[in-house]
Amino acid sequence: MNANELRTKYIEFFKSKGHAQIQGKSLLPDNDPTVLFTTAGMHPLVPYLLGEEHPAGKRLTDYQKCIRTGDIEAVGDPSHLTFFEMLGNWSLGDYFKEGAIEMSFEFLTSPQWLGIPIDKLGVTVFQGEDGIPKDEESAAIWKRLGIPEERIVYRPREDNWWGPAGTTGPCGPDTEMFYDFGKEPCGPDCGPGCSCGKWLEIWNDVFMQYNKNAEGVYEPLARKCVDTGMGIERTVTVLNGKKSVYETEIFAPIINAVEKASGYTYGSDSEKDKSVRIISDHVRASSFILGDPKAVTPSNVGAGYVLRRLIRRVVRHGRKLGINEMFLCPIAEVVIEQMKGPYPELEENRDRIITELDKEEKKFLETLKQGEHEFEKLLPNLLKDPKKIMSGRLAFKLYDTYGFPIELTEELAAEHGMTVRREEFDEAFKKHQELSRAGSEQVFKGGLGDQGEMAVKYHTATHLLHKALKMILGDHAAQRGSNITAERMRFDFSHDAPMTKEQIAEVEAIVNAQIQKDLPVTMEIMDIESAKSSGATALFGEKYESQVKVYSIGDFSKEVCGGPHVEKTGGMGHFKIQKEQSSSAGVRRIRAVLE
Ligand code: SER
Repeated sequence: MNANELRTKYIEFFKSKGHAQIQGKSLLPDNDPTVLFTTAGMHPLVPYLLGEEHPAGKRLTDYQKCIRTGDIEAVGDPSHLTFFEMLGNWSLGDYFKEGAIEMSFEFLTSPQWLGIPIDKLGVTVFQGEDGIPKDEESAAIWKRLGIPEERIVYRPREDNWWGPAGTTGPCGPDTEMFYDFGKEPCGPDCGPGCSCGKWLEIWNDVFMQYNKNAEGVYEPLARKCVDTGMGIERTVTVLNGKKSVYETEIFAPIINAVEKASGYTYGSDSEKDKSVRIISDHVRASSFILGDPKAVTPSNVGAGYVLRRLIRRVVRHGRKLGINEMFLCPIAEVVIEQMKGPYPELEENRDRIITELDKEEKKFLETLKQGEHEFEKLLPNLLKDPKKIMSGRLAFKLYDTYGFPIELTEELAAEHGMTVRREEFDEAFKKHQELSRAGSEQVFKGGLGDQGEMAVKYHTATHLLHKALKMILGDHAAQRGSNITAERMRFDFSHDAPMTKEQIAEVEAIVNAQIQKDLPVTMEIMDIESAKSSGATALFGEKYESQVKVYSIGDFSKEVCGGPHVEKTGGMGHFKIQKEQSSSAGVRRIRAVLE
């Protein structure tokens, strides 16, 4: 069974169980300050898991593109990926443990669906911790369905709990489903969840019962929900009797393209194989980021910085395979061809994918050339050191001035029998990165949407600003992106000149007037066509379900949006634009606060 068939079967199965199929969302989440990318299928559903009504109903299913960059440097082993697809089904206050587990079991084992033999499956359940009880209920359901007791294992919070890492959001115990590769157990404690390579997690049913609030307290949710996530790449791996995601048809054509570019045959050398895997994964991830309707381009901040790191790492590993020319685009073409069926945005944005990859690759190759040249210039002096140690400060200078990566400095140094004082480099690097680091560590945790009170106010302010901009600048001033933290909002919109002081003052005055009027915010569910014809603003590049929520702020603004919003504008505070600047060609960016 290939990925396309699995995707189709999953959706078909859950539709047959009364679920509505919803659209997967962008890889770049709006209004979520805690993550750079959509990290799980449930991510776009956070507001609904916390109690918002979903226009498509209480049972939902979809496939979602995801990126996890927690530790990019760790990718390259046989199973880790930065980009992956997740299949999911959700219950918003409908079925709970019993329904979720029964459906998971049926889909996995029924010959009509995946037909995995029961004796290849094992599960883990939550063992209880901090006053939250042991999940005996889930264990009993698995046992009743036929999973032998010795393959139902209780595990602690760090394994069987899903939810925000250090931030707020919906969470709860989970039960995870594993495939047994049939290897000998690694010891007496080896069982589902063991990381020795015998077991591979393929699916996770999360029982969302709590909201972790800003004080770190677990408040029971009024409406219990289910969030599940099945990894497409891993499931295709086990269904085809493979050991690694890189051996599946998902990666075969991509690896083929890398072989063609390098002349290297996959499987001949373990270090080089790792480079092939890194290139394959990262080109796939980069193509999806650039092919997203809300694409970012390579830069030194946020998601753009992750993209830059991915591309540059591909180039570095290309060199390890002996590739010294441009090679990324033909591999990206293969990714586009392969994935454009379920993700038509790749075809729509083909030009951007190719142009930006090409540009960044060229730029980095120049950086490398220059860095190498500078290193050569330093060499005679370096070789005078009897201990053959290169100072970390010098290595940092190469990085800081020429963008030359430390790994390459280390490689060049090693070629001349030298080592680099790495701690010294790291220290200098850390200082330099302090600001952007503080930001990215936060977001790398893969936390969930901050639905705090301030964030909700900023969300409503976003709608007011959007409308005010259109009134002052014209209808072309449409939203292109937004980002909210508890401290400020950022808003990107189409406009190709700086705003004048007067325009900024007028926009502020309009927004503040709406706040003072204490307008009610109301929500209606309607189909997308009626929403558009009723004059509601819909976002550029966003895919919508057939049924959508439309938020109105008095008679002032009307937008298609998932929420949440304040109930009345009165308590929002004073709106102030702190900065208005260019974001990219034809796009301006406003930073504003509610004081
Ligand atoms: N949120 C859970 C996960 O990512 C299930 O979807 O594993």
